Amino acid sequence: MGFRFHKMLLQVTWVGVLLSVTTSASAVLSYPSALPNCQNSCGGVEIPYPFGMNQGCYLDESFSITCDNSTSKPMYGNVIVKNISIEEHNIEILAYTAKDCYPIYNLPFKNYVALNNSNYPTGPTLWSRYFTISDTQNVFMAVGCDTYAYLNGFKNNHSFSLGCTSVCVDASNVVNGSCSGIGCCQTEIPEGMKNISLEAHSFNDHSKVLNFNPCSYSFIVQKDKFNFSVDSLQNLPEKMPMVLDWAVGNETWAAGNETCAVNTKNYPCGGNSTCKGSKNGGYFCLCMDGYRGNPYLKDGCQDIDECKEGNNNCTSKNTNCVNDPGSYYCVCSVGYHFDDGGACVHPSSNLAIKLTIGIGICIIAMLVCSSSLYLIVNQRKLMRIKQRFFQQNEELEKATNNYDENLIIGRGGFGTVYKGFLPDDRIVAIKKSKIVDESQIEQFINELVVLSQINHTNVVKLLGCSLETQVPLLVYEFVPNGTLFEYIHHESKVSIVPWETRLRIATESAEALSYLHSSASPPIIHRDVKSSNILLDGKHIAKVSDFGASRLVPLDQTQAIATMVQGTFGYLDPEYLHTSQLTEKSDVYSFGVVLMELLTGKKAISFDRPEEERSLALYFLSSLKENRLFEVLEKNIANEENAEQLKEVSNLAMRCLRLKGEDRPNMKEVAMEL
Ligand SMILES: *[C@@H]1O[C@H](CO)[C@@H](O)[C@H](O)[C@H]1NC(C)=O
Ligand SMILES: *[C@@H]1O[C@H](CO)[C@@H](O)[C@H](O)[C@H]1NC(C)=O
Ligand SMILES: *[C@@H]1O[C@H](CO)[C@@H](O)[C@H](O)[C@H]1NC(C)=O
Ligand SMILES: *[C@@H]1O[C@H](CO)[C@@H](O)[C@H](O)[C@H]1NC(C)=O
Ligand SMILES: *[C@@H]1O[C@H](CO)[C@@H](O)[C@H](O)[C@H]1NC(C)=O
Ligand SMILES: *[C@@H]1O[C@H](CO)[C@@H](O)[C@H](O)[C@H]1NC(C)=O
Ligand SMILES: *[C@@H]1O[C@H](CO)[C@@H](O)[C@H](O)[C@H]1NC(C)=O
Ligand SMILES: *[C@@H]1O[C@H](CO)[C@@H](O)[C@H](O)[C@H]1NC(C)=O
Ligand SMILES: *[C@@H]1O[C@H](CO)[C@@H](O)[C@H](O)[C@H]1NC(C)=O
Ligand SMILES: *[C@@H]1O[C@H](CO)[C@@H](O)[C@H](O)[C@H]1NC(C)=O
Ligand SMILES: *[C@@H]1O[C@H](CO)[C@@H](O)[C@H](O)[C@H]1NC(C)=O
Repeated sequence: MGFRFHKMLLQVTWVGVLLSVTTSASAVLSYPSALPNCQNSCGGVEIPYPFGMNQGCYLDESFSITCDNSTSKPMYGNVIVKNISIEEHNIEILAYTAKDCYPIYNLPFKNYVALNNSNYPTGPTLWSRYFTISDTQNVFMAVGCDTYAYLNGFKNNHSFSLGCTSVCVDASNVVNGSCSGIGCCQTEIPEGMKNISLEAHSFNDHSKVLNFNPCSYSFIVQKDKFNFSVDSLQNLPEKMPMVLDWAVGNETWAAGNETCAVNTKNYPCGGNSTCKGSKNGGYFCLCMDGYRGNPYLKDGCQDIDECKEGNNNCTSKNTNCVNDPGSYYCVCSVGYHFDDGGACVHPSSNLAIKLTIGIGICIIAMLVCSSSLYLIVNQRKLMRIKQRFFQQNEELEKATNNYDENLIIGRGGFGTVYKGFLPDDRIVAIKKSKIVDESQIEQFINELVVLSQINHTNVVKLLGCSLETQVPLLVYEFVPNGTLFEYIHHESKVSIVPWETRLRIATESAEALSYLHSSASPPIIHRDVKSSNILLDGKHIAKVSDFGASRLVPLDQTQAIATMVQGTFGYLDPEYLHTSQLTEKSDVYSFGVVLMELLTGKKAISFDRPEEERSLALYFLSSLKENRLFEVLEKNIANEENAEQLKEVSNLAMRCLRLKGEDRPNMKEVAMEL
């Protein structure tokens, strides 16, 4: 048996459970909008794909935008781009107005603006593609008192024109803010109009109205973006905002087809999106429901987290929201069930009975486990225990809301710790193996066996277990106030923990360790003593936890045991590191470091500190040697009454860190002194 025990110790791998590490990295989602390595904005305007500014960055020439060097404004041909919308598949531009002006000295000057191909250097097909004047968002206007104007364009490759006329003799009837026919005339734009040109003309060269209206104007303008007034007759902006609808595709590909041919070579849409035929020809892509982003990019559509954004309907009482790719679903809070009406209600009490029986069986299993050390040593027999005491862990699944991410209170090398709510309203901590392999199951069994030996106020209590074949679970009392590490190294340090509390926590922890070393039978070496393994309960009473790495010292073996070195950097006994000989004095060393943490409020290892101060142990010892103790102590904990006490505790910490294990005091002495 001695031999087998030895073998098993060597098999145990290094694992440290950092109960303090709770990862709550709430990823900030940023949606890619342009192709990789492509500039995605110009002059503060986002340029999303299929638009782009360089060769290879746009879908084809008709989506080519240039970023004007001198004004750093995005230009589409000769018009300024104000906004490109992927969801609305439209683009806001500032386009020139057409005007026909007669200066006061009466020299006729005609202006004619054509938004046709010749105005755009980027390619001959620009306006013949699926860029249409938005009929819903624009109007055609003519301004002047001696004015007629045309809007010419094409629809389905057939040309047509529409017009507007306004004649008046003075401005007295002009209604400010309303383009109602006097001095200003407006008309709706037909659907699907493209390749347009604008014309503005006068009947009488403005000869009768020159004093207040020298020009005729015509333009397309976004609804509500232009307020006509008396002033407009004198002076009008050179450019007006308008909206174009766009779609992808061209005459040979995709024209007139109701649905997109998903498998064609030029299929424009990326993952998790759908393709729709535009009523004016061409197609556009849309992210599927529950996704958002740029559907023209391969992975542009990304899942919306409805639970985080609150646009979910899991709002009734005791209901929680769980995000899913493309959707979400509602679950009941722990301890509640859906009833037939879909409301979350408290479950019947027979679950509580089942759970109690379950835990009862578990505890018996535990006793059997622990009474036979031989069983856990032997792999085959281990499997047999697991089978014999196979325990459905359905209840625990419910208690943790099916291992809800939100209930995770800690993660470590071999387990995730969840907060769980038993039906009788008791709160427990449930440790669940993360990745299941044999060595981890052994760690769990090890912890189970170790903890089942212990009953001490300052050691976290094991309430039960579940040895389901796949995922073993350990159920502990819930210790609400986090770890000592969090308590003393809290970022904000809102209130400094007073020395009396620190001393009490140190004493309680020392008592727990002393109990493990001397009163437990067989004695137990914790092997991973550190501030993040000391939990604090509601009254900040210390509870030593995490026995995953602990070793039972067989009664016939009072000397050191050879093991694979494990522990946490910063707390690790250098002697043990060199010799691999585990003794209870290794725990004493680690406890000494915890004492120093309590004294100084500094972390055991911190790479933020200068090199010589990185290891708290070395830094503390050198400060003590140079009589600079009071410089390294946590600010504000020292006062006249406790100076002597602080010195003594510092001395004790120093003795705990002596190089040779045999020179260190044992835990019992440490606890007594404290
Ligand atoms: C913009 O600047 C680049 C280099 O600075 C130059 O090559 C390019 O011709 C310029 N474009 C325009 C439209 O001036
Ligand atoms: C661009 O258009 C989108 C959608 O129409 C709108 O939400 C956004 O505010 C606009 N951005 C600017 C700068 O006008
Ligand atoms: C654009 O319109 C102008 C003015 O009517 C005309 O001279 C030119 O030929 C047109 N260009 C094209 C390509 O239609
Ligand atoms: C665009 O309009 C001009 C006249 O303004 C016309 O000559 C030309 O054929 C049109 N092009 C297309 C592709 O419709
Ligand atoms: C559009 O009309 C012009 C002449 O009106 C014709 O040459 C051309 O082929 C037509 N294009 C399409 C796509 O029907
Ligand atoms: C219309 O607005 C102009 C200034 O834009 C103002 O001078 C004029 O008095 C206004 N007319 C009426 C009738 O409100
Ligand atoms: C037009 O007038 C309305 C009401 O007077 C005002 O709310 C709006 O901002 C004005 N729009 C512009 C573009 O000036
Ligand atoms: C139509 O578009 C596709 C992809 O954008 C392109 O490969 C093809 O050459 C285009 N055809 C014409 C006639 O422009
Ligand atoms: C519509 O798509 C089908 C294939 O999906 C293709 O055979 C057909 O030619 C397309 N029609 C037009 C008008 O492009
Ligand atoms: C759709 O999105 C999910 C994640 O939300 C992703 O796993 C999947 O690969 C995406 N599908 C495609 C075809 O990109
Ligand atoms: C919540 O929304 C989902 C779909 O979004 C629907 O199936 C379900 O019935 C809704 N539940 C309630 C309570 O409205």
